[in-house]
Amino acid sequence: MHQPVLLEEVVALLTGCRRVLDGTVGGGGHAARLAAGGARVLGLDRDPVAVSAARAALGGAAEVRLGDFADAPTDPDVAAFCPDGILLDLGVSSPQFDDPVRGFSFRPGTTLDMRMAGEEGMSAADWLSEAAEPELSSAFGDWADERHARRLAREIVRRRATRPFQTSDDLVGAIRAVLGPRSGPDDFARLFQAVRIAVNGEIERLSRALPGLLEVAAPAGVLAVVSYHSGEDRVVKHAMSGWARACICPPAQPVCTCRGRPLGSQITRRPIRPGAGEIAANPRARSARLRAFRKAA
Ligand SMILES: C[S@@+](CC[C@H](N)C(=O)[O-])C[C@H]1O[C@@H](n2cnc3c(N)ncnc32)[C@H](O)[C@@H]1O
Repeated sequence: MHQPVLLEEVVALLTGCRRVLDGTVGGGGHAARLAAGGARVLGLDRDPVAVSAARAALGGAAEVRLGDFADAPTDPDVAAFCPDGILLDLGVSSPQFDDPVRGFSFRPGTTLDMRMAGEEGMSAADWLSEAAEPELSSAFGDWADERHARRLAREIVRRRATRPFQTSDDLVGAIRAVLGPRSGPDDFARLFQAVRIAVNGEIERLSRALPGLLEVAAPAGVLAVVSYHSGEDRVVKHAMSGWARACICPPAQPVCTCRGRPLGSQITRRPIRPGAGEIAANPRARSARLRAFRKAA
């Protein structure tokens, strides 16, 4: 049985592309492979630390810039590059997650930061201390499928009235108070990830980026997206299946007023998932889903 390794699957999907926009260059792993295959690579990352790491790793093999893939469609340099391959490998990188200063993990005593783009925007501590109760509740419900989202939001608001949220222990304490003493690392991981998604506006950026990225891609270009969260994968699936349809008018509408033609075709009918070997070597890969779309020629 075929045991997919997602890096190899991405490389295979983008083989033959001559100009690849890597919108999430991270440590430069994908970019290095694509450049070695002969593509010109333009790499972007929101995180200045990742940009330095990618530049050091890639040397002259790729151009790497600080930037948000959500802004790429309106960047004249990206339009001039005219990518025939675009890659988004979403989420956080292992170096980001493993650096305690970045505050992504629930290890005891970790400062709640979680900002991907350096010092830009609200930290997780600020968000937990300032967001309105319904916003907290929606984040836990939508991004962590938490049954007790409203109770958890209420508990956070109750606790922060006397003590601001500062470290992972503060959030773990609130989670335990609501989910009970049997809650553990899986719950913390799920709920911390929801906070990260909210703090960085990850789903909103992805939803905003996808239509523009398809537009900026060259005719017959390939867009490949690896997501690690069901909410992200849903956004990608919905976008790609909509692009592949000839008509996107509401079913009750008698006359078609939309574009009336597909914008291209899905390369992956179902998402490609990592094989057991990859998951054993890298358990963080277990939630990964790869989808790809080819723009019409
Ligand atoms: C999973 S890592 C990518 C790893 C990379 N493919 C590699 O081979 O090393 C995700 C990266 O995307 C970056 N990122 C997340 N959202 C972004 C956005 N909206 N714009 C640009 N970079 C983003 C993160 O900072 C992180 O470095």
